[in-house]
This record gives sequence, structure tokens and C-alpha cells, in this order.
Amino acid sequence: MQLSDISDDLESTLFTEQQIADKIAELALRIDADYAGERLLLVGVLKGAVMVMADLARALTLPIEMDWMAVSSYGSGTQSSGVVKILKDLDTDLTDRKVLIVEDIIDSGLTLSWLQANLRSRGAASVEICALLRKPAAAKVQVQVRYAGFEIANEFVIGYGLDYADKYRNLRGIGVLAPHVYKNTQ
Ligand code: PRP
Repeated sequence: MQLSDISDDLESTLFTEQQIADKIAELALRIDADYAGERLLLVGVLKGAVMVMADLARALTLPIEMDWMAVSSYGSGTQSSGVVKILKDLDTDLTDRKVLIVEDIIDSGLTLSWLQANLRSRGAASVEICALLRKPAAAKVQVQVRYAGFEIANEFVIGYGLDYADKYRNLRGIGVLAPHVYKNTQ
């Protein structure tokens, strides 16, 4: 689905499919260089990370392994509390593994900061983070993101894995959701 297919629901376009592909290729080059000769495990955080994971994994020239987690943050409404529940855990033993968490977006940072600590506690050799988007203005905790894509303003963004009410994840680009879409339902 293209951003132009839902133009009525969009306030603006943030990144086109090509801009995203270019950024993923840039991140993949760095990851390829940093982990050359290593056995890297990519951990995708469902559901938002599926597109980044699929494209990043294919952009890499390294042989990688892939695993997935699903987590949910407890909180009121859209506010994350930092208390995280594991809905689906990894199948992989992390002992002595080099792990790269793959995320679509870091908002408050609470999910990633919890997840990084959790995976480190399992005996991984290293746990780094790759996130396509980051909202510095929304940060509640500072997370060290080794591979960061774009920094964006504190807006409601959709597409390329990012949803509103589980919709819009299949957009090829990333856009800002028009307020009339979410204001009618609140
Ligand atoms: C999003 C995103 C991160 C988290 C970031 O997931 O994929 O996991 O929120 O927010 P934080 O930095 O404030 O913790 P979401 O909970 O929307 O689930 P989804 O990936 O299934 O859409």
C-alpha cells in the first residue's frame, strides 16, 4: 500500500519507500562491518519491527539468525509505564551470543531499556539496538542506540510496520497520521 492510497488519513509524508531503503542499506553496511566474522542474532520486536527486520536482514551480507519477541507495556491509554510483560519469548539461548535488537521506533525508550537489560541478564555477549526511528522529544529514559535511522518530531507516525489501531502497517512509506482519524475515536 502506498501513502497516496490513504492520502485523506495523512497529514504529511515523512519518508518515502526509497528514503527508507537507503537508510536501511546504510545501517546494514555498518552492521556488516561491525559484526564481520561473528555469529549475529537479530531479535525483532513484534509487531512493529517486521518490515525493518525483513528489509534489514536481506540488506546484510552477513549470515544471521533471526528470532522474535512480543512484549506489551502496561500503562494507561497510550502512556507506557515501563512495566513490560513478555507475550512471546525467544526460542534461542542467548548465552555468549551477540544480539542486535531490531525495532521500528523508540518513543519513550521504556520498552527498549527494559528489553536490553532483560536480554543482557540472560548471559548474552553483547546486546545492541538498531531502530529505524527515534523521537528524542518523547524520551523518558536514555537508551544507547548503536544503529539509529531517522530522528523525528513527537508526532503520530504510521506505516512501514507502525500502526494506528493495528492499521497502516503495510504502507510502504512512513507518514504523519491526520488528527481527524484518531480524534473521532477518543
Ligand atoms: C511500539 C514500538 C516499540 C515501542 C516503543 O510498539 O514498536 O516496541 O512501542 O515505545 P516506547 O519507546 O515508548 O517504549 P507497540 O507497543 O506500539 O506495539 P506494536 O509493535 O505491536 O505496534
